[in-house]
Amino acid sequence: MSTSTFLKMKFVAFATLIVCATPQTFEPVDFNITEALLDNGVNISAIPELSDLTTRSLLSGCVTACNSLQLIFGDDQLDAQSESTYSAFVNDYWSAQQREIIPQCVFKPEKPLDVSTAVLVSRLTKCPFAAKSGGHSAVPGGSNIAGGITISFEKLNKIALSSDKKTVSFQPGHTWFDIYSALEKDNVAVIGGRVASVGVGGLTLGGGISYFSSVYGLACDNVESYELVTASGVIITVSQNSFPDLYWALRGGGNNFGIVTQFNVAAIPRAPTMWGGMRTYLSTEFPALIEAYYNLGMNAKKDGKAHQILSFGWGGIEVAQVELEYADPIANASILAEYNGITGAIADQTAVRSLAELTSLLDGPASGAGLRQAFWTWSVKLDKELATITKDIFFEELPAVVDAADILPAVSLQVLTDPILEKTTTRGGNALGLNPQDGPLMNVLVALKWSNSADDDRINEFAAKVKERSIAAAVAKGKSSPYLYMNYASPWQDVVAGYGSANQARLKVISKKYDPTGVFETLQPGYFKLSGAPKATLA
Ligand SMILES: Cc1cc2nc3c(=O)[nH]c(=O)nc-3n(C[C@H](O)[C@H](O)[C@H](O)COP(=O)(O)OP(=O)(O)OC[C@H]3O[C@@H](n4cnc5c(N)ncnc54)[C@H](O)[C@@H]3O)c2cc1C
Ligand SMILES: *[C@@H]1O[C@H](CO)[C@@H](O)[C@H](O)[C@H]1NC(C)=O
Ligand SMILES: *[C@@H]1O[C@H](CO)[C@@H](O)[C@H](O)[C@H]1NC(C)=O
Ligand SMILES: *[C@@H]1O[C@H](CO)[C@@H](O)[C@H](O)[C@H]1NC(C)=O
Repeated sequence: MSTSTFLKMKFVAFATLIVCATPQTFEPVDFNITEALLDNGVNISAIPELSDLTTRSLLSGCVTACNSLQLIFGDDQLDAQSESTYSAFVNDYWSAQQREIIPQCVFKPEKPLDVSTAVLVSRLTKCPFAAKSGGHSAVPGGSNIAGGITISFEKLNKIALSSDKKTVSFQPGHTWFDIYSALEKDNVAVIGGRVASVGVGGLTLGGGISYFSSVYGLACDNVESYELVTASGVIITVSQNSFPDLYWALRGGGNNFGIVTQFNVAAIPRAPTMWGGMRTYLSTEFPALIEAYYNLGMNAKKDGKAHQILSFGWGGIEVAQVELEYADPIANASILAEYNGITGAIADQTAVRSLAELTSLLDGPASGAGLRQAFWTWSVKLDKELATITKDIFFEELPAVVDAADILPAVSLQVLTDPILEKTTTRGGNALGLNPQDGPLMNVLVALKWSNSADDDRINEFAAKVKERSIAAAVAKGKSSPYLYMNYASPWQDVVAGYGSANQARLKVISKKYDPTGVFETLQPGYFKLSGAPKATLA
C-alpha cells in the first residue's frame, strides 16, 4: 500500500471518529490544503507556479491550476485550449450553449485520487471547476465552466458486475449505452437512462427515470453506495451505514456534495430483449392518447413493467409521439391494450429489441445534439383534464416561436407512478421530497431545440409562459405539486426549494458539515445549488 493511500485511510478513520463526536468538523477548522496535497503525493514546493501563488493575482489562478495539473499528471490527462483533444471534448456536449463555453483547460482524472488532487488544486488556486459525465445537462454551465477547470470523467470508465451478480459498479465516464451493452451477456441491467448517449453521473444524481422504474424505482433509489471525493479531497464510501446523511443527500442532491467516482448499484435480472419504441399520431388521436396515458399512469401498480412518455410537438402540423415500452419481449401485454387499440399511427417503430438497441433508437434525430437546447419542467397530480389543458396551452402559445430557425418544440408527459413514489422511501429515503401519498404525479417536460442564439430569450419565455399557465390551471383544481425534477429543470427554476423547506434545510446542514467552506457551492458554481435558481431573471 502506498504511503498516501495509507494516510488517506487513516484520515478517513479519523474523520469518521470526529464526525460522531462533533458533526461540524468533518473538515478540521485548520485544514491545510498544502498538506492534503502532500498526502496525495503532490509537493507544491516542487511546483514553482504553485509555491509562489501568493505573489500572483487571482486572475491567473486558473492558468496556475492548469499548468500545475499538466506538470503533475502530464499531457495525456490535461488538454489545453490549443489541442485538438480539447476541441473534440468541447464539441461533444449535447447542447450548443455548453459547447460555447471555453474552459481554461480540461482535466481527465484516471483514478479517484486524481479527482481529489484536482479539487485541492482548485481550492489552492481559487480556480473554479465543473465536472462532466455524459454532458447532457440542458443547463448552460451545468457541466462546463468558462475560464475554469472542466473535469472530464472519460478515463474513469470501469464497469464491473459482482460475482454474485447482485451489484454493478461503474464509474462516471460512461453513458447508459456502455453500461447496458456490457451487462447484456449476463442478463442483467441497472436502473438508468432511456437514451444511449446520456451520462450515468448527472442522471443518477438528479433522480433518474428508467423504463423499469415502476418496478424498481428511480435510478438514485437503486444506488447501494457511492465512492465520493469530498471537498477536502478525502475519498469515502457513502452508504446507508456509512455517512448515512450524505447518502440521503446524494440521492437527488445533484453536484452539491462531492464528486462521485463510483456508483455501486443494484443489478436487476433482465430478459435479453424487451418490447418498445415510438408511435406517431395526428391530432385526431390526441383524446384517445391522453385517455390511455392517464389510465396506464393510474394502473402502474397492476403491472409496473409498462412504461410511457406521451409527447406533443410540431412538425408543420400538430403531432403526438408516444414512447411505449414493456419490460418483457411481448408486443401485446394486457396493460398496454388501450394504447395498442389506438389505430392510425402514421409511424410505428415498436418492436422487440435489446435494451441497448432501444436506447440507440431513441438517440436518433430526436436527441438533437449540437442544437441550442432548453428544458423546463413542473409536476402536478396526474389528471386527465390537466393533461389536455397542458397540451392545449402548449399549442396555443406555440405561434410565438414557430418561426424560430430549426425549432423543434415538444411537451412530454410522464408519470411519477405510485410504485416510483413508494420506492423513494427505500434505504432511508431520498432528498427529493416526494410523498407516496401525493401520487401519482404527472411530470411535464417542455423540451425545445433551435439554432439561432437570437431566439434564446423568446423561446425560454414561451416555455415559462406554458409553465405558468399550466401550473395556474393545476392550482385552480387543487392539484399542484411543488416538485421539480432536477434533470429536466431550466436554470430559472429553483429545484431544491421544490424538495420542500425541511429537505432544503437538511441538505444545507449536511453540506455545511462535509463542505464547510462551500467548495461544491461556490468553486463549482454551475447547476442547481442548494439556494435559489441558477439564473435569477429571464432576459
Ligand atoms: C437526450 C436526452 C435523454 C434523456 N433521457 C433521460 C431519461 O431517460 N431519464 C432521465 O431521468 N433523464 C433523462 N434525461 C435528463 C438527464 O438525466 C439530464 O440531462 C442529466 O443531467 C444528464 O446527465 P449527464 O451525466 O449526461 O450530464 P452532465 O451534463 O455531464 O452532468 C449533469 C450534472 O451532474 C453533475 N455530475 C455528473 N456526474 C457527476 C459525478 N460523478 N459527481 C458529481 N457530479 C456529477 C455535473 O457536474 C452536472 O452538474 C435526458 C436528457 C437528454 C438530453
Ligand atoms: C500548511 O502546511 C504547510 C506545510 O506544512 C505550511 O508551510 C503552511 O504554512 C501551512 N499553511 C497554513 C495556512 O497553515
Ligand atoms: C518538497 O519539495 C521541496 C523542494 O523540492 C523539498 O525541499 C521538500 O523536501 C519536499 N517535501 C517533501 C515532504 O517531500
Ligand atoms: C399475445 O399474443 C400471443 C400470440 O399471438 C398469445 O399467445 C397471447 O395470449 C397474447 N397475450 C395477451 C396478453 O393478449
